[in-house]
Amino acid sequence: MPAKTIIVTGATSGIGLALIPKLKAAGFFPILTGRNKIKVEAAADELGVKGYVLDVSNQRSIDDVSAQISNAHGPIWGLINNAGIWLEGEFSTCSPTDIKATIDTNMMGTMMMTHAVLPAMLDAGKGSIVNVVSTGALYTRKLISVYSASKWAIRGFTGCLEVECAPKGVRVMGFYPGKVASAMYETAGIDRDLDVAMTPDQAANMIVTMLNDEGMLWSHVSGRSIADYV
Ligand SMILES: NC(=O)c1ccc[n+]([C@@H]2O[C@H](COP(=O)([O-])OP(=O)(O)OC[C@H]3O[C@@H](n4cnc5c(N)ncnc54)[C@H](OP(=O)(O)O)[C@@H]3O)[C@@H](O)[C@H]2O)c1
Repeated sequence: MPAKTIIVTGATSGIGLALIPKLKAAGFFPILTGRNKIKVEAAADELGVKGYVLDVSNQRSIDDVSAQISNAHGPIWGLINNAGIWLEGEFSTCSPTDIKATIDTNMMGTMMMTHAVLPAMLDAGKGSIVNVVSTGALYTRKLISVYSASKWAIRGFTGCLEVECAPKGVRVMGFYPGKVASAMYETAGIDRDLDVAMTPDQAANMIVTMLNDEGMLWSHVSGRSIADYV
């Protein structure tokens, strides 16, 4: 039987990058995607997988690249909606551009990538989607209103799709990690102590567990490094 094809968004760094070799080792056929062509080519070469430039904040890119991937490697069995960006600061000081980019990437990117692959999964009566959400969608606190809004939206989206799609054989699952030692904060210009964070490998291991065993639908899977409890 051919290996199951899984698209991973935002796989040039952090959790997504750590996930690719783990999916390969678990017998899946991972497709590495990201917004930066140089990073996509370098990572795909190094890991020996197919890579595609896919900007999840751009509808044209979603439509074109998801069609290319399913034509070349379909049917698509899995989607990991992992691409995401961080935005921190008092809401009144966040720029409209940054607010829109965060919503377009974290919220619309997840919804529209799902919209691109879900119909074929429902037709096939099988498939799995993991949305990488965040503990930021489980509580509220100051300085993260926009990031939180983007992730709370995906918490609702994931829960609704879970019950809509499970009876049709498609699993839609949410992973809610706490702090992860990735480039996310630095990319956003935020200096964060990540000594107590989980590693991208630890987060990726959980996603592989959620994908394995199609008899199980793991919803609201959350966790953080024990070092983060002190
Ligand atoms: N780090 C944490 O503490 C934490 C905690 C909970 C949840 N999460 C979530 O985990 C997910 C992965 O983040 P990470 O921690 O692994 O951060 P990361 O190392 O910064 O990785 C994020 C990835 O998303 C990509 N990306 C950003 N915008 C994109 C776009 N428009 N289209 C396609 N790809 C895009 C980035 O590309 P570039 O390499 O080009 O920047 C990068 O590959 C995110 O959804 C994040 O919200 C992170």
